[in-house]
Amino acid sequence: MIAAEEITKKLSTDWAGKMLLCLKETDSTNDYLKKMAGEGAAHGTLVVAEKQHAGKGRRGRVWDSPEQSGIFMSLLLRPEIRPEYASMLTLVAALSVSRAIEEVTHLEPKIKWPNDLVVNGKKVTGILTEMSAEAEQIHYVVIGIGVNVNRKEFPKDISQTATSLWLETGCEISRETLIASILNYFEEDFKKFAETDNLSLLMEEYNDRLINRNREVRILESDGEYKGKALGINETGGLLVEKEDLSVEVITSGEVSVRGVYGYV
Ligand code: BTN
Repeated sequence: MIAAEEITKKLSTDWAGKMLLCLKETDSTNDYLKKMAGEGAAHGTLVVAEKQHAGKGRRGRVWDSPEQSGIFMSLLLRPEIRPEYASMLTLVAALSVSRAIEEVTHLEPKIKWPNDLVVNGKKVTGILTEMSAEAEQIHYVVIGIGVNVNRKEFPKDISQTATSLWLETGCEISRETLIASILNYFEEDFKKFAETDNLSLLMEEYNDRLINRNREVRILESDGEYKGKALGINETGGLLVEKEDLSVEVITSGEVSVRGVYGYV
């Protein structure tokens, strides 16, 4: 079982994870935290679960969340930004988790735009951001992070595209150490985001970790697809794609999927 005091010992934050709840089991840490947010939980509240029986992925998919082997956690933010800026927070989180995994494991996880983390071409982390807002004002943002940590095997249908830190390093990783490191980096990265309300201070590091950079990608839209070369993100988190006619398109998350020409990356 993940021990809250082991996380707390390693935290160097002012607000991230200061209020911390470790659950044995829940449906989804995002849903649990959304309820807490509705009841007034503070900016920086973290919920971690040992197991989720209804873990949610992006685009309505399920996030397989078996006991003991993963990190399933959600962080509550109450940012003072316009609702349309909130999607950038997902990219901030992807960068912070990538830095934390590197610190703890010495692996160098790459970011598949906008927010999957990939090691050796396979996904090791997914992030699901949910928001409650009015037209002009955010009530809260929940950043849900799932990391495959000590998992030894995956079901057949995802074994070609998913991996874990254990499979990549052969070592058991302390989930508490990794959670604390994620929060430490996130607070630092969030501060840079909040200074400008965009990604200009984080863009360079994000782009250095971007697996799609200078690679051919397929852009899948609802009404078709086209190929191009991904150049990197701009300061609002859009992906710049150079099309075959050399014109550059800015792709914003949510509207399309980006795939490598030969598969997932
Ligand atoms: C994805 O599809 O890549 C996003 C996966 C996000 C999974 C995490 S696990 C903790 C949090 N609670 C959930 O139900 N989902 C997120």
